Amino acid sequence: MSVSKFEPSGPLAGSLAPPPDKSISHRAALLSAMASGTSHVSGYLDSADTRSTLAAIEALGAQINIKTTDGSDGSLDLEVEGIGLHGPSEHAGADPLVIDVGNAGTLMRLLPGWLSGQPEGAWTLDGDESIRRRPVDRVAKPLGEMGADVKARADRLPPLEIRGAGLRGIKYAMPVASAQVKSCLLLAGLLAEGETTVIECDPSRDHTERMLRAAGVDVKTSTEGMSLAIGGRLPGKRVSVRQTEVLVPCDLAVPGDFSSAAFFIVAALLVPGSRVGLRDVGLNPTRVGLLGILNRMGSRIEVEEGPPLNGEPRGTITSRHSPLRSTHVTAGEVPLAIDELPLVALAAAFAEGETVVRGAEELRHKESDRVATVVDAINGAGGDAEAFEDGFAVRGTGGLRGGRISSHGDHRLAMVGALAGLASHNGVEVDGMEAADVSYPGFEEDLRSLLEHD
Ligand code: S3P
Repeated sequence: MSVSKFEPSGPLAGSLAPPPDKSISHRAALLSAMASGTSHVSGYLDSADTRSTLAAIEALGAQINIKTTDGSDGSLDLEVEGIGLHGPSEHAGADPLVIDVGNAGTLMRLLPGWLSGQPEGAWTLDGDESIRRRPVDRVAKPLGEMGADVKARADRLPPLEIRGAGLRGIKYAMPVASAQVKSCLLLAGLLAEGETTVIECDPSRDHTERMLRAAGVDVKTSTEGMSLAIGGRLPGKRVSVRQTEVLVPCDLAVPGDFSSAAFFIVAALLVPGSRVGLRDVGLNPTRVGLLGILNRMGSRIEVEEGPPLNGEPRGTITSRHSPLRSTHVTAGEVPLAIDELPLVALAAAFAEGETVVRGAEELRHKESDRVATVVDAINGAGGDAEAFEDGFAVRGTGGLRGGRISSHGDHRLAMVGALAGLASHNGVEVDGMEAADVSYPGFEEDLRSLLEHD
């Protein structure tokens, strides 16, 4: 494990395009494999997680031609020859095929939706140490209700054994707002008899719905009879699909990842004198909850929305150094900012007053237990943070002294550690900085490019 020191820095300045969206890249690869024909995906994220998805679809029989590789911007152009919705059955061998998902939770949760509806096959999904600690009963249980034969270790954890079966549509009210669970059930719903409806308690990212529509699927959504938006909170919704024969191949350009851009948005807020522009960033409303939270904290952020591409809004974000005040983040906001909550904690350490995040128990099931690791990181850098069962509180002390932060093998924690160092008085040593490669292999280089100016 490598230790990297991030010294206090001068202002960040300039602009960059963040790497392609990880969630959209996973889905683009999976849906291309499920389609009948050739899909083109430009700007596919080249990271450890999304490489796991390419390896998985290749193992299932999809052919991938990586057309151009531009190592410098972390993206790939792909041509994918899909195997069709029923392809895994047709390509299945006599023995169960073991698929290694690495560290990719999205792959571990979405792929079972497709595989469980393949009557002729058996697969085992396994991954690294961190994946083996993350619950999969959240997908195994509803897939079981649809008629699938899916077994998790100790009924809860990977490896996940899947024997394909004929599925029937169900109506499923999700106990937690999870885009991964919703997406898994929608993919299974394409193969299930009748209609499959997923009911969300709070809205979660909707990339799967948008991409399925582009692939010719009639995805019905409604918020009828559900709580309406209050105080900026989006209403949860029902999403339905019916059994489908074919998916139309896609031609897709992946927007920049808001979750990666978020590191520079917050870095600019924290380091005096900074002003950073982020180009071609995905601005899907189900992803940008962080902007609302930072707005309440007093941030000076401008968003310029450009025309959407492939059904996904995108645009430019400019962030500059801002004095911050504390805020309260409540359950309804959590899914819209789930991957950015570690950054809320960091910003809170620099804000005036106590910031509280509640209703975020889900953070405990990410690449690390992010309630524990975020609190550990803030305190390790000289801040004042406290963990709750379902969130955390950070008492702003106007800045961070500096110290040592462990990534715990979690990419987002590693990058939070780097920013904490730049904005601190004495710098921060980050244990396990290489974890950033899971979503953002060029992170340190991009960060440096914003610091090297006159
Ligand atoms: C993701 C959904 C979120 C998020 C994860 C990616 C996705 O997880 O935290 O990083 O691509 O669907 P949940 O849906 O489990 O909250």
